[in-house]
Amino acid sequence: MLNDNRGSKKMGLRDFAEEALGKESLKYAVVLPEGEDLKEWIAYHSLEPEYDNKMCKMIAKLYGIKNNFVVVDFYNHISVLFYAVEHQCTEEACPVMSASLRFQYLWTDSKNHPKPTKLPARKYIGLLMNWISEQINDIYVFPTHQVFSSYSNRLFIEMSSDNMQATTNKKQMSSKDYYFDSYAHFGIHEEMLKDQVRTNSYRDAIMKNKHLFKDKIVLDVGCGTGILSMFAASAGAKHVIGVDMSNIIDKAKLIVQENGFGDKITLLKGKMEEIEMPYKQVDIIISEWMGYFLLYESMLDTVLYARDKYLTEEGLVFPDKATMVIAGIEDGQYKEKKIAFWENVYGFKMTCIKEAALSEPLVDVVESDAIVTSSCVFREIDIKTVRKEDLAFTAPFKISGLQKDYMHAFIVWFDIWFSYCHKPVYFSTGPKAEYTHWKQTVLYTRDTLTISKNDQIEGTLTCKPNNSNPRDLDITIDYKLEGKDTKHSETCNYTLC
Ligand SMILES: C[S@@+](CC[C@H](N)C(=O)[O-])C[C@H]1O[C@@H](n2cnc3c(N)ncnc32)[C@H](O)[C@@H]1O
Repeated sequence: MLNDNRGSKKMGLRDFAEEALGKESLKYAVVLPEGEDLKEWIAYHSLEPEYDNKMCKMIAKLYGIKNNFVVVDFYNHISVLFYAVEHQCTEEACPVMSASLRFQYLWTDSKNHPKPTKLPARKYIGLLMNWISEQINDIYVFPTHQVFSSYSNRLFIEMSSDNMQATTNKKQMSSKDYYFDSYAHFGIHEEMLKDQVRTNSYRDAIMKNKHLFKDKIVLDVGCGTGILSMFAASAGAKHVIGVDMSNIIDKAKLIVQENGFGDKITLLKGKMEEIEMPYKQVDIIISEWMGYFLLYESMLDTVLYARDKYLTEEGLVFPDKATMVIAGIEDGQYKEKKIAFWENVYGFKMTCIKEAALSEPLVDVVESDAIVTSSCVFREIDIKTVRKEDLAFTAPFKISGLQKDYMHAFIVWFDIWFSYCHKPVYFSTGPKAEYTHWKQTVLYTRDTLTISKNDQIEGTLTCKPNNSNPRDLDITIDYKLEGKDTKHSETCNYTLC
């Protein structure tokens, strides 16, 4: 594109991309910082989180390992650019991948193009993006790729929108757009679909209950690839409406056609809260809305909106019940490494970082033998009746020691129920259940608790959306240990962001 004249088709394409992304973002996506050597930049950013970057900081803290997030962020910028120009870049408009008349790019790969081949630009870039994505997901190239894939599944994103918002272009994407764009790439959906506990539970709840779905109008809130819509159509629904704001719905439209559901499933691109529905009422709402700590990401708000606006009085919601569970764990070694570390860093105190580390919940897999107390269901949510304001709550809990041990943290997980089913379908995200991408949420206490069998820990857990970013959660645990040997009380504040 470099040598083309203003006003040509290719310049038009570039102008379009710049308008969609903002000039500054486009530059950030394709230009190295001044004086940087490309290889050094990639090597450095592949190994160490960049501390100015909110997501890298968070991921490093959450997982306690080095990560490739800046590379992934860079990839996502390029992805956004690709999606922005994809529609204009038809085979007729750009029949060959080239940079001005002087340079043509030829594609070769070991599978389908053993010889360097001329390809239309769109196809070339598509293959290139897939190849980059494969590299990022290759554990031998980026050993920490699971961190990206499981994390990005749910949260991605708003951090990159900081960069986007720094641009001055009025037509820049907003953080809201970017949130949805985090769901645009198929990799995120691959991760969710491959979570078999999750996807098989929805499949069983829908397809083993054809008597509930037969001839019903079904709304799939946040349909993604359309998987739940296709389950519902296969279960005999009269018609399914799938709604998603993300560009993944363009793929879902092709998927629905490919599987012969074109006349049964209608997919609408847009925000659930803003789209116009072809039906005034629906009989069933299906949605996979759960985030870390169940409520992180706030997508349940959207389901409640759809329920209140479209669901008939006797209508069903799949799933219909969620419970949140708390327990205590022994986690001395990891806490020492991640929290106590800041007390003495080469002889210096870094208390402010210790405080920050304590206040951020860690999303991680907890081994079941780390549990040292009983567990307690502290919150039950009936999706059919809960109101948005109930999602900010304070709930009491009581747990007791299982043996003589030390306790370093609370963990929270959630369980999901489809109780209208002929045989109720249920799955747990707890440490004793099969792995899910939600893992568990660990909340460290400031002090280590010495507990004995039957020692009582009583308290309350408060959870509410963060004031400045409602997709984040403010969590407070207020507890009191009445032990044989120890009495202790504490208030711990956390933000899941
Ligand atoms: C967790 S994914 C689930 C995708 C799919 N249902 C599945 O089970 O694989 C949630 C989807 O909801 C979409 N979404 C979230 N909030 C939305 C809203 N307010 N309006 C439309 N789509 C939304 C996201 O773009 C994302 O594709």
